[in-house]
Amino acid sequence: MTRILIVNSGPYGTHSHGYRLAKQMIAHAGWDRVEITERDLVRTPIAPIGPDYARAITSNQPHDAAAFAESETLIAELEQHDVLFIVPPMHNFTVPAALKLWIDHVIRINRSFTATPQGKVGSLKDRPTFVLVSSGGFHAGARAKQADFLTPYLTYALASIGIEDVQFLPLQGLVFGEEAVALAVDEAKHAFDAYLQAQHQRSPTAGSLG
Ligand SMILES: Cc1cc2nc3c(=O)[nH]c(=O)nc-3n(C[C@H](O)[C@H](O)[C@H](O)COP(=O)(O)O)c2cc1C
Repeated sequence: MTRILIVNSGPYGTHSHGYRLAKQMIAHAGWDRVEITERDLVRTPIAPIGPDYARAITSNQPHDAAAFAESETLIAELEQHDVLFIVPPMHNFTVPAALKLWIDHVIRINRSFTATPQGKVGSLKDRPTFVLVSSGGFHAGARAKQADFLTPYLTYALASIGIEDVQFLPLQGLVFGEEAVALAVDEAKHAFDAYLQAQHQRSPTAGSLG
C-alpha cells in the first residue's frame, strides 16, 4: 500500500495544471495499491495565525491544547502518508499564502521538530516528496528571469521537520499559450520519469515506495 497525500494550494483547485499533472504522475508511477488523500488549502482554508496559536506555540502548551487542534490534524495527516505531492503555484517568487499557513501549522516545536544547540532537528519520518511548482514565467534553469525563493525556502522548511527526500519538478512558462504549456508538462514528466528510472535501478524489484 502506498498512501499519497496531495497538498494543493493554488486558486484553480483540481483544474490547475499542477494538480492535473500530479494525478497523471501518480497514475503512471506504478506504485503498489495507491491510496490518495487530497488537501485543498484554498477550498478548505486555514485561518491566519491568531493570538491563541501564537501564544500556544511559544509557551510550550500540551499537544492536546485547543489552540493546536488544526496543527495536530495537519501533522497527523503528514504522519499517515508515505509519499507527498505538494502542488504550489509560484506567487510573487515564493509559496502562495495558503501554503505558507499550512507550513506555519506543520512546523511546530516539540512536535514536528526539536530545538537543539545545533539547530532544529526534524521529528517526522522522511519520505519521497514531489513539489510541482507551476509558474506563469520561468523560475528555473537558463530561461529564468526572476528570483526563485520558493525552492530554497520550501527545501529548508521541509528539512526542518525531517523531510529531505524532495524532488522539485518545475512546470513553467504557463502563460505563454498552449504550446508552451504542452512543453512545460513534457519537461516535468521527463524529470519525473528520470527519477522513477533512477529509483528502479536502485531497487529493481520494489513495487512501492513505502
Ligand atoms: C498573485 C499571483 C502572483 C503570481 N506571481 C508569479 C510569479 O512571481 N512568477 C511567475 O512566474 N508567475 C506568477 N504568477 C502566475 C502563476 O504562477 C501561474 O498562473 C500559475 O502557476 C498557473 O499554474 P496552475 O494552473 O498550476 O495554477 C502569479 C499569479 C498570481 C495569481
